[in-house]
Amino acid sequence: MRIGILTSGGDCPGINATIRGVCKTAIHHYGMEVTGIRNGFQGLLTKEVEQFDEKSISGLLTLGGTVLGTSREKPFRRGGLMDGVDKPSLIMQNVKELGLDCVVCIGGNGTLQTAARFAEMGMNIVFVPKTIDNDVYGTDKSFGFDTAVSIATDAIDRLHCTASSHRRVMVIEVMGHKAGWIALYAGMAGGSDIILLPEIPYSIHNVGDVIIERLKHGKPYAIVVVAEGIPTDGRKRAGEYVAQEIEYETGIETRETVLGYIQRGGSPTPSDRNLATRMGGHVTELIANGQFGRMVALRGDDIVSVPVAEVAGKLRLVTPQHDLVVQGKRMGVCFG
Ligand code: F6P
Repeated sequence: MRIGILTSGGDCPGINATIRGVCKTAIHHYGMEVTGIRNGFQGLLTKEVEQFDEKSISGLLTLGGTVLGTSREKPFRRGGLMDGVDKPSLIMQNVKELGLDCVVCIGGNGTLQTAARFAEMGMNIVFVPKTIDNDVYGTDKSFGFDTAVSIATDAIDRLHCTASSHRRVMVIEVMGHKAGWIALYAGMAGGSDIILLPEIPYSIHNVGDVIIERLKHGKPYAIVVVAEGIPTDGRKRAGEYVAQEIEYETGIETRETVLGYIQRGGSPTPSDRNLATRMGGHVTELIANGQFGRMVALRGDDIVSVPVAEVAGKLRLVTPQHDLVVQGKRMGVCFG
């Protein structure tokens, strides 16, 4: 059996560990051949591939990014027709010509929707969720998230120094357009005073009042963590907007820091390496059993699988009932 493997969407720590998990299990345990597809679905349009062997996968466990390259190529965009080319049909044909019996897609929400469309067209697809945002529906966790939270928490810890030394408000913008998981987990782990998420409406006047209350209680500084996707005036980035409004509301010197792509880079944490490794192994087992059209998922401490058609197009979001939100509120953390 020959399997193809591609990585699509934003890079994220743990992708290479997954590639390694798939390759080692496929080659050692099942005697399959593994073909790497370059730059996501783009590589299936251009047939840019490389053969994986034992040598080419060494050193992958700890490596950030993706050795296969990635792209945000969406073959079904604009009805799939671009410059007279029917991209989905061309990809189906190329998969056949490359002799691939199955394609392993490692991706986030966008890739999951693309994978579900190809599964509908009859392609043998299996899916591994990856995202630092942790917003793929159907899995308790995606690898990349733990690493991003650990990077963001370290940044918050460091920003505490300037906040308290200069008696400033420090606003830290983290990633998360629709889901505020990184803001919630890093914000709580970093002992933040205010955490703003896309899922929970906030009032900037209330945020200002909370900071002034702290000042009255002898704490002339504050740490504010905001997810990039919170509503703003529509012109500024979330961090810049919140920082300017806080300074206006409170009169306290306020600075913002945007963590950006730093959250996606570097070596995965041990927890992400192990999750990626397990998912890589389990997805290969799905292929061996002929269970196509499925996504591997973490449920509790087990790896299970769910049909891609059931989870594609849905988002895993923070709810106000989440225990970290509830406990945070009880301890005086402001969520808006
Ligand atoms: O991986 C998800 C994510 O990190 C989002 O939180 C972020 O907004 C987005 O990717 C940006 O990625 P890019 O600029 O590569 O499209």
